Amino acid sequence: MQQSSPETGLTDFLPLEGTDYVEFYVGNAKQAAHFYKTAFGFQSLAYAGPETGSKDKASYVVRQHSLTFVFTTPLRSQNSMADHIYKHGDGVKVLALRVPNATDAWQQTTQRGAKTYMTPRTLTDDAGEVVISGIHTYGDTVHLFIERKNYEGVFLPGYRKWESAYHPAETGLLYVDHCVGNVGWNQMNKWVKFYEEVMGFRNILSFDDTDISTEYSALMSKVMSNGNGFVKFPINEPAEGKKKSQVEEYLEFYEGEGCQHVALATHDIVKTVTDLQNRGIEFLKVPVSYYDTLLQRVGKIDEDLSPLKELGILVDRDEEGYLLQIFTKPVEDRPTLFFEIIQRKGARSFGKGNFKALFEAIEREQEERGNL
Ligand code: FE2
Repeated sequence: MQQSSPETGLTDFLPLEGTDYVEFYVGNAKQAAHFYKTAFGFQSLAYAGPETGSKDKASYVVRQHSLTFVFTTPLRSQNSMADHIYKHGDGVKVLALRVPNATDAWQQTTQRGAKTYMTPRTLTDDAGEVVISGIHTYGDTVHLFIERKNYEGVFLPGYRKWESAYHPAETGLLYVDHCVGNVGWNQMNKWVKFYEEVMGFRNILSFDDTDISTEYSALMSKVMSNGNGFVKFPINEPAEGKKKSQVEEYLEFYEGEGCQHVALATHDIVKTVTDLQNRGIEFLKVPVSYYDTLLQRVGKIDEDLSPLKELGILVDRDEEGYLLQIFTKPVEDRPTLFFEIIQRKGARSFGKGNFKALFEAIEREQEERGNL
């Protein structure tokens, strides 16, 4: 099942069809699912719990367009899921990738050095079968490979349709653009190598501390992409600065490496961010002076400046076009996971021109928490 990449012409030993879902381990899955429905406009999709034969955990699956989130909580304390939440707080456990062949994906990656999380297994119900396998990545995070071409059910075998009378309007979120991992001091290149050698990804962009530093703190980042560009994983590590960097704050409060942010794509960022703000989602704000020189920096854009300024949406340009982006504040009490909302208009980069303004905004928040 190997495919040739149109960009490199090289054989892709791990063909990926995109992100299948993101699973969060949380303290209270029922309430988390309600928050993502209410605030982000996800819709109820599927449920697994004691009523469906899952005695030790409950999972709620929500969807918006091609974006699927799963919130899972353990029902008792003596298990690895409860340990995960005790240590990390709420956070991303699984970045699940859709593959044409999950057995092959597991073989290809483990023979290149990946550590097995789950040997290939076939799950079946009346709607067909799904093959799942999995490997470990940074921290306690894992990748599952999901092969669902022979499945017509609502989510996965073991889940039933989640019937709900509550359908908050969607906010225009479409799919996962990229997921960023924070890793420890001097660990970035180890994980870059992992994605290159074990998963066949390429390093498409790099930022060092001269790109990403403020007066106080710095970080380094490399963006890893699979062959068709459907799956992108930037990897951050802290860099030496006068004070504690945001990556260090994350590592301290997540108590280890993990997923820092998930970027969600929209085709209309002004509408999406207006909706999200109206529903109580809080975003990082840059000083309004950012907008004084914006058009000189990025040139002509299709959008009016005033709603961007009002909402705090950032703009950056590269050789291929521009992008609009904004970052939420952390969505839990620990200063760990947050979301990015991104609209791409040709640009395939990640907003390097916004890093300085953005990190100064993050530092103001760190300062308030006493963690700078
Ligand atoms: Fe991002």
